[in-house]
Amino acid sequence: MKKSPNRYVKCEGLFKIYKTSDIEVVALRGLELSIDSGEVISIVGASGSGKTTLLNILAGYDSPSAGSVKVGNYNLLQMNEEQSVRYRREEIGFIWQDTSENLFPYLSSIENIELPMLVSKISKNERLSKAEYLLELVNLSDRRDFKPFQLSGGEQQRIAIAVALSNSPRLLLADEPTGELDYNTGQEILQLINSVNIELGTTVIIVTHDELISSSVNRSIKIKDGKTSTEIRRSIDSSSNIDQEYYLIDSSGQLQIPATVVNQIGRRVKFSKSDSGEVIINSDE
Ligand SMILES: Nc1ncnc2c1ncn2[C@@H]1O[C@H](COP(=O)(O)OP(=O)(O)OP(=O)(O)O)[C@@H](O)[C@H]1O
Ligand SMILES: [Mg+2]
Repeated sequence: MKKSPNRYVKCEGLFKIYKTSDIEVVALRGLELSIDSGEVISIVGASGSGKTTLLNILAGYDSPSAGSVKVGNYNLLQMNEEQSVRYRREEIGFIWQDTSENLFPYLSSIENIELPMLVSKISKNERLSKAEYLLELVNLSDRRDFKPFQLSGGEQQRIAIAVALSNSPRLLLADEPTGELDYNTGQEILQLINSVNIELGTTVIIVTHDELISSSVNRSIKIKDGKTSTEIRRSIDSSSNIDQEYYLIDSSGQLQIPATVVNQIGRRVKFSKSDSGEVIINSDE
């Protein structure tokens, strides 16, 4: 695959091994991922497949055991603590699944949005006007002085999006942002995230179990056993949306083939080309 001039996120051969006193868990095993600037993608996969682990690494909260991760001009494996703090503060906005983790309970909506800006060198007036702009963007100006307990779950997540955007991040990471919400509210959050992408050009990665989210973004990438396995791309035809599923080949030429197909073709295959140029897999069994 050709290198895109807009490539913004690039993970290669990413491993994450969690070591506890008596057990090692391989959460990521050679994961590869490329994302262009300005894309909205979803990451799907079974529970325990490594989605949150990947997001935490991309957010700079955790470091991989091996492999490489680059986001914009940052090489995440070569950052010292100071660069890492700057990366998290300037490049990344993060939304947690648990609505209560995103907001300080004793601060109002406007104060929660202003808080991340306190450490940047902008004036008080600028801070306030930016927070008010973001409140308007998430359509909650009329909840400006409400504390989180006075907001619904969906409203809390909308404020959380405003908080995540307060430092104008280039990359917005959301770990199951609609997991605790009902269908309609989840759809509103998704529309809001899409409009943020269009209005501000923010690149967005949404981790989700929700089929509906994955079917409303252009690219949905499935993680299986700590590796990216398949990708669904949506091409918008003039009359309808067509979803195409692709199998992903990693940089060392490896491919995850579903068990049902392996059962049909066996464990030893040959490749050949048809007269019309198609690649044919011939089973040896
Ligand atoms: N801090 C940790 N220490 C040890 N093992 C961990 C740790 N965090 C995650 N794991 C393990 O790593 C694997 C991947 O976990 P992860 O949280 O990334 O999965 P996930 O895809 O986000 O799952 P879910 O959909 O349930 O949120 C799991 O087997 C989990 O038990
Ligand atoms: Mg998770």
